[in-house]
Amino acid sequence: MSTFQTLAGFRDFYPDDCAFKNFIFERFRQSAITFGFEEYDAPILEPMELFMAKSGEEIVSQLFNFEDRGGRSVAMRPEMTPSLARMVGARASTLRRPIKWFSISEMFRYERPQRGRLRSFYQFNADIFGNRSSYADAEIILLGIHVLKNFGLTAEDFHVRLSDRQLWTLFIRSHNMGEDDIPGVLGIIDKIEREEPSKTIESLDKICKGNGRKIFDDLLEIRAIRSISGIREFFKKFANDIFAERIDELAQLLARITAFGVSDFVTIDLNIVRGLAYYTGFVFEIFERSGQSRALAGGGRYDNLIKRLGYADLPAVGFAIGDVTLGNLLKEKNIVPKLSKNIHCFIVYSTQTEKLALQQATMLRGQKINTDYCLDPTTFSKQLKMAAQVNAKYAIIFGEEEAKTGHAKVKDMLSANEIVVAIDRLVEVISR
Ligand code: HAM
Repeated sequence: MSTFQTLAGFRDFYPDDCAFKNFIFERFRQSAITFGFEEYDAPILEPMELFMAKSGEEIVSQLFNFEDRGGRSVAMRPEMTPSLARMVGARASTLRRPIKWFSISEMFRYERPQRGRLRSFYQFNADIFGNRSSYADAEIILLGIHVLKNFGLTAEDFHVRLSDRQLWTLFIRSHNMGEDDIPGVLGIIDKIEREEPSKTIESLDKICKGNGRKIFDDLLEIRAIRSISGIREFFKKFANDIFAERIDELAQLLARITAFGVSDFVTIDLNIVRGLAYYTGFVFEIFERSGQSRALAGGGRYDNLIKRLGYADLPAVGFAIGDVTLGNLLKEKNIVPKLSKNIHCFIVYSTQTEKLALQQATMLRGQKINTDYCLDPTTFSKQLKMAAQVNAKYAIIFGEEEAKTGHAKVKDMLSANEIVVAIDRLVEVISR
């Protein structure tokens, strides 16, 4: 008989995996709340057009989409940002600003499954709306760093590669290319690390009419820059105030990050342009330092998206961290705490004491104390073994003698100390 398996790129979560996932989600939630963000959610299934128009070609080619029974084109969300922009846009006039929202939710992309990339994964998204200054960009980058530090990762483990789409856009414009060429050139830059140079030059040539080689040489130089002074030096030759102003803004953002004491985590790196179509300003991706793995997180400023969805002109900046690359990294670094079953009391009983014991179990559960017991009472020694296996803090033993006088033995499973306690004092004793 054939057995069933999950679809490629999808995961079953056995209790251990689920405990790990919940641990990650709790840290995400804790970090966001610490930074003053509020949680939201949105539908998993959306009208396909929402992503067609807003996410960019790459994501659209990876959509899980189908026609529903009513003949509508729908898609499983590949990312949260378009749904979020719709939600915020729809209530833009009534929401108190700045709007700082986060979510933890499942995404679907029909990618080739590989290490760090699946077809179903979770993302922690955090976004700020209603602030055009780089304070908001800094806050988002700080949160990204805080989340990862909150797992015990350090500046030796990961870094934020910070770039600027606007600077790239100015560069493209200064080469007499039209506005329509900008997405194409950004796409070429995005893929440059993985592409043969001759192919990149050929693609550039097509857009900028025979100037491909010259632009390619410039790209090589820009991609090697790692400092503000390096950026100033390179763009000096354009002798253009717009470049200088934009570089000043980048320097200001870096100064803010430095003031928060996390500059060790941030590297200037113009290789990052981001695959998604809606970004308009500073963009970043977070990578493991070794550079071995796929990105841990990515984000940036997207000031036009809400307006393009037909709502108010509301600036936005945000990012998302995925659970897959992060989970791999935490396991590799061995910094996952022991995630055992969290049982406080394990009730040990016999058929003679069953009534009293199970009443007490119900009482403890009613007090929100995690309590378990063996479903078929066997010998006390086997039950105590089970108590140890579930890592119970206490075993509460209802022996016949003690039960007769309304008492039970409380055994501390770590020290093995036992004391006899009147059952009306059980909660007090095990709560110490
Ligand atoms: P993204 O770079 O497409 O950005 O995804 C962010 C993170 O999600 C990635 O860095 C990665 O950790 C995870 N991720 C993406 N695709 C996969 C996959 N197939 N398997 C496993 N993990 C994956 C966005 O989605 C933007 N919407 C982020 C954003 C929020 N920008 C502004 N606000």
